[in-house]
Amino acid sequence: MRGATAGATVAVMTDEPIRTLLERIAAPASASRPDLEAIATALAALAADRDYLERWIERLEGRPGSVAIHAPAHGPRLQLVHRPEGEMSAVHDHGTWIAIATVTGIETHRRYRRLTGPASEIPKLAEVRDLGPAASATLLPPDDVHDHGHLVGNGPPAHILVLAGADQTQLIRNEWDLATGRHRVLGPGDSGRWIASQPMPGD
Ligand SMILES: [Fe+2]
Repeated sequence: MRGATAGATVAVMTDEPIRTLLERIAAPASASRPDLEAIATALAALAADRDYLERWIERLEGRPGSVAIHAPAHGPRLQLVHRPEGEMSAVHDHGTWIAIATVTGIETHRRYRRLTGPASEIPKLAEVRDLGPAASATLLPPDDVHDHGHLVGNGPPAHILVLAGADQTQLIRNEWDLATGRHRVLGPGDSGRWIASQPMPGD
């Protein structure tokens, strides 16, 4: 009964709000086409639980960064992310489904449309959303090119929950640099640029 023992250990170590999220997304995430609306609804409910999430926000000690809340080797992963004031991420994809929900502040979420030419072409801006507390967004490959973060003068930088369908660092992904027009394929283990103002390797 090693499996049962391991499962019991996980259940004891995983906080109740996270267990609730994982239970709520289990069926929607295992569908042949993930039910991202249901997943986003469950994630937004967790994002509204400020009493619980305050302990994770405190781990960042007021600084930009990210903290893994639930990171198994396989299956959905949850992290808390706080980008710096006035900084957006690189334009990127994830190679797996994504749901995000804002806990505090304002997260600007911009979607881009892939062009029909080579992957190196800079995708075209398609949608801009400002996500306040408990607002959510979802992404499903291949329509998943985006950047997100904070724009100067647009409220306080957000703390967001990011729920990914798998460990994205083990997948093939892409990132683009709007300033230079460069594109880069990210292989397993390459986390890419966290903010767009970081230079691409080789620049
Ligand atoms: Fe992203």
